[in-house]
Order: sequence, then structure tokens, then C-alpha cells
Amino acid sequence: MTNATTPDSFISLSVDDFNPSEMYFLLRDSVLPRPIAWVSTVSVAGVHNLAPFSFFNVCCPSPPVMGFSCGPRGDNHDLEAIVSKDTLQNIRDTGEFVINISPEGLFEPMVDSAQDLPPNISEFDALGIESFPCDLIKPRRVAKTPVAFECRVKDILPLGKNHWVMGDVVKVHILEQVYQGERDGKRHRVDLLKESAMRPLGRLGRAFYCKLTDVMLRTRIDGPN
Ligand SMILES: Cc1cc2nc3c(=O)[nH]c(=O)nc-3n(C[C@H](O)[C@H](O)[C@H](O)COP(=O)(O)O)c2cc1C
Repeated sequence: MTNATTPDSFISLSVDDFNPSEMYFLLRDSVLPRPIAWVSTVSVAGVHNLAPFSFFNVCCPSPPVMGFSCGPRGDNHDLEAIVSKDTLQNIRDTGEFVINISPEGLFEPMVDSAQDLPPNISEFDALGIESFPCDLIKPRRVAKTPVAFECRVKDILPLGKNHWVMGDVVKVHILEQVYQGERDGKRHRVDLLKESAMRPLGRLGRAFYCKLTDVMLRTRIDGPN
């Protein structure tokens, strides 16, 4: 940094200075980069749904729990009425979902699957995205994802107009290309950086995304490297 930073270098605001959609844009455009869960579900009528969610992370490794935040349909945070997205409705109805890691090779279909299609149209069919059946749950998984996690819902926490959806991971599918096997005494290690097409994408602000092309290494003295 060239200039010294002082408290006066900041624009300090109360949370009350933001309306809901302004706060949504601040958070969306400053908490970066975010991982992208490509979430597949199935409706009661049997329509297979797929949509990306970047308010997403691991909640706990043991037991393995993953979570993502589902906003109101249309992503308008200023509206009073809340209509559920298909993903949340399907998870409420069936209790099942898959978290597919979003790879660089599927950038365009991943973004296109965010279209607000009606519940009777499958993003898999509309966009020609290949899928496989799961082993323990009914939703399908994305065929060309490096890792897919079959999940059963653990809890759905309402937060304002969003819902934080948590799922217990019940089965994992690791593509052979990213599977490393045993390393340092730990089995089932993976390397998602090996091939560019398999590298996970990151969500940036506005309509920007990033690829993992400039990776830095700094080994921790006492950490799990
Ligand atoms: C990369 C990306 C990340 C997204 N992340 C979220 C998110 O974290 N939460 C959310 O509610 N919507 C998110 N969206 C928007 C949903 O994908 C979009 O509303 C989609 O239509 C929901 O589909 P559904 O109605 O089939 O569930 C994201 C869109 C993109 C392109």
C-alpha cells in the first residue's frame, strides 16, 4: 500500500443507513471470492432442479454438514412478500439435495442455471447438463463435477427473507481425475487444482467470477498442510 490508512480513510456507516437490497449488494460485492454450490434437488412431481448458491460453506467436518443461504425468489430483498425458490421448496418437500462443486469447465451452464425457470422445467433438460442418479437420495448429481455431496436436510434456519439450509453429507462422489488416495497417512485425499477444467470457480461481485490461476503457497509451521 502506498498511502497510510487512518480512521478517516474509511466511510463508516450504521447498518440502518442501508435498505435490505443495499446491504445485500454490499455483502455480495465485498465478501469475495465465494465458493459456489451447484445445488440439485427434485420436486414432488419429479422435476430435477439445479441452481447455483454462493452464500455457501462447510459448517462442520465431523459430522460432515454443509450449508447455503437461499434468498427470496427474484432476489428482491426489498419486497414484503416472500416466494420460495424451487430449491428451497424441493428441499422442504423431500429433505434431500446434492451439493455439486462448480468446475471451470462448466462455467456457462452453471451461470445459465440461475435463470428463474418455472418449477415444471428442469435446468438439466433445458440446458442439456449431463447428470447421474445418486446412490442414497432421489435428486440427480451433475456428471462432470469433481466432487458431489449427497445431503439429507439437517435444519432450515429462517433468517430475514433468507433461509440457511444445512445438510448432513451421506455419500460423496469424487471424480477419479481429482482423487489422490492416501497422503501423509490420510486416505481419500483430493487435488482439485490439477486440471483446469476441474478447478472450482469463485464468485466475485456483480456478474464477475474468478478462476484459480494464481495460487500462492505458504506452509504453516504447526498447521495441517
Ligand atoms: C454464481 C451464482 C451464485 C448465486 N448464489 C445465490 C445464493 O447464495 N443465494 C440465493 O438465494 N441465490 C443465489 N443465486 C441466484 C439463484 O441461483 C437463482 O435465484 C436461481 O434461479 C434459483 O433457482 P431455483 O428457483 O430453481 O431454486 C446465485 C446465482 C449465481 C449465478
